[in-house]
Amino acid sequence: MCGIVGYVGPKSTVDVLLSGLRRLEYRGYDSAGISVITGTGLETRKKAGKLDNLIAEITAHPLAPANIGIGHTRWATHGAPTDGNAHPHLGGTREKLSLIHNGIIENFSELKAELLTDGTRFASDTDSEVAAHLIAREYDKSGDLVLAFRNVVNRLHGAFTILVVHEDQPDVVLAARRNAPLVIGLGDGENFLGSDVAAFVEHTKRAISVGQDEIVILRSNSVEVIGFDGSPVTSEEFTVDWDAAAASKGGWPSFMAKEIADQPQAVADTLMGRIDSDGQVRIAELESFTADEIKNIDRIVIVACGTAAYVGDVIKYGIEKWSRIPVQVELSHEFRYRDPVVTKNTLIVAISQSGETMDTLMATRYARELGAKVLAICNTQGATLPRESDATIYTHAGPEVAVASTKALVAQITAGYLLGLYLAEVRGATPVRELHRLGRELLKVPALVSDVIENLVQVRELGNDLANAKSVLFLGRNVGFPVAMEGALKLKELAYIHAEGFAAGELKHGPIALIEEGQPVIVIVPSLRDSDSLHPKVISNIQEIRARGAKVIAIAEEGDTEVGQWSEHVIFVPQTEQLFAAILTVIPLQAFAMALAEAKGLDVDQPRNLAKSVTVE
Ligand code: M6R
Repeated sequence: MCGIVGYVGPKSTVDVLLSGLRRLEYRGYDSAGISVITGTGLETRKKAGKLDNLIAEITAHPLAPANIGIGHTRWATHGAPTDGNAHPHLGGTREKLSLIHNGIIENFSELKAELLTDGTRFASDTDSEVAAHLIAREYDKSGDLVLAFRNVVNRLHGAFTILVVHEDQPDVVLAARRNAPLVIGLGDGENFLGSDVAAFVEHTKRAISVGQDEIVILRSNSVEVIGFDGSPVTSEEFTVDWDAAAASKGGWPSFMAKEIADQPQAVADTLMGRIDSDGQVRIAELESFTADEIKNIDRIVIVACGTAAYVGDVIKYGIEKWSRIPVQVELSHEFRYRDPVVTKNTLIVAISQSGETMDTLMATRYARELGAKVLAICNTQGATLPRESDATIYTHAGPEVAVASTKALVAQITAGYLLGLYLAEVRGATPVRELHRLGRELLKVPALVSDVIENLVQVRELGNDLANAKSVLFLGRNVGFPVAMEGALKLKELAYIHAEGFAAGELKHGPIALIEEGQPVIVIVPSLRDSDSLHPKVISNIQEIRARGAKVIAIAEEGDTEVGQWSEHVIFVPQTEQLFAAILTVIPLQAFAMALAEAKGLDVDQPRNLAKSVTVE
């Protein structure tokens, strides 16, 4: 879950590496470091803590100009987050080789034992340093850096992206990828490497996604890709559609604040070109599935983790209702290791913002082995998940930098609903007139999201008021249930407050015992307008907890004249379709968690112990 950047070219290498690390800092922020090759040789600076600590170190001990270098931001796996364990790690007794690594080398103990027998001295507790010494030792034998690199990466087990520079070969960065992300940025007289395109998008939009078990030989004027066996690989170039400015705060106090505000655009961009003016959904990316294949789907299994899994829980309601295909939502890591029933007629829908979540990748690989087709819903071009899926619906949320997912979530729900409407029409499961009406309603959602965002003042005040709360509970029914769980997750990860989301109907089966005088409970209230609305049942649930002392904060639809009688606070969101309401009601919960974390003086973009992309199992 670390961030990796590499550069060869005429620009200030230190600046390119540091700005790349700034954009990758979301992947880990326990420590950071860079190595460059200057006129006098290899130089390294590294420091525990956030990137600013490294920048202060470089300011105190500047580096000479360089045209090649590598940089790393770490989320610790082996070894505590100290200066010594920070990457890069140097290899060989003369310390001419520098290496950075993202992932876990599973057989590092046996390799380390071999090196210790050889007399190698280690400067860190990491698994990564083992690879640095092995490559340096091989290079000292053969004088061929590519061969040495290739021999060693073939010996490593586990997940890794590794980048190496060597003082004796000051024009080349070598990189290898197995089960961890790596993307090449193609420039003019310069080239880049990054864990994702955010690392270099300010310099170039031309990119190549590196495949499994491939090695990159990167020079300023050439890029060569070979397999771990040395055979040449032909790679396909793509154009990055992210705007570099989108990955900066743009005057907002935090990335999270900006990304909450980006949500109307994220939904609009995800809808763009996918619903015509009549309301018919067309998804070009799904044309690789024939009508017969779609008609033969007998079950959908959604695999995802964290917020993306709650998205699965939301869209399940729409996909089942419209397409009549049974939908099951599974946490990727549970699905992968429980011998699930999967056939060639099972459609796996894998949801991931990053496209690099290892649990989700392992689940999809397993499902494909069992013969299922995989459809990804992903936000990141060039990521592993789209490469390994039969088709991908891209969400167009733009780069999401804050660890807490916000705009990716609303874009994923949007994409999931597009999928549900599309499948329903191909299968003839719901009258076309109704599907097209829903399509036209979906097109109105970005404007409604804007309305919600313009009216968050009250939520921010509530966040301040509840800064000392010991626990907050969230209740919802139907799509309000996963929204409640998402609200609780946001509060846990940002404000470090105990929070739980429950199905309101489940309350009296146990959780109501938690309610005592003053317990804050946030309730997602369904619309009052629909004939089959669960509104009266949720009002009853509110009365039950109020009778036991709960302090109720309701998220309800404009025009709901009843809920105010039973709640301390009501936050209103605009009227929309019952199922689309999830996209609106989740936003106050994001803002609430952010406000509460800010009131506690916490870093909302980089909460403790977390990294944005969880690239280890
Ligand atoms: O990149 P992914 O969408 O696969 O990430 C999945 C989860 O790790 C992610 O949603 C996580 O739960 C967020 N930090 C929640 O805000």
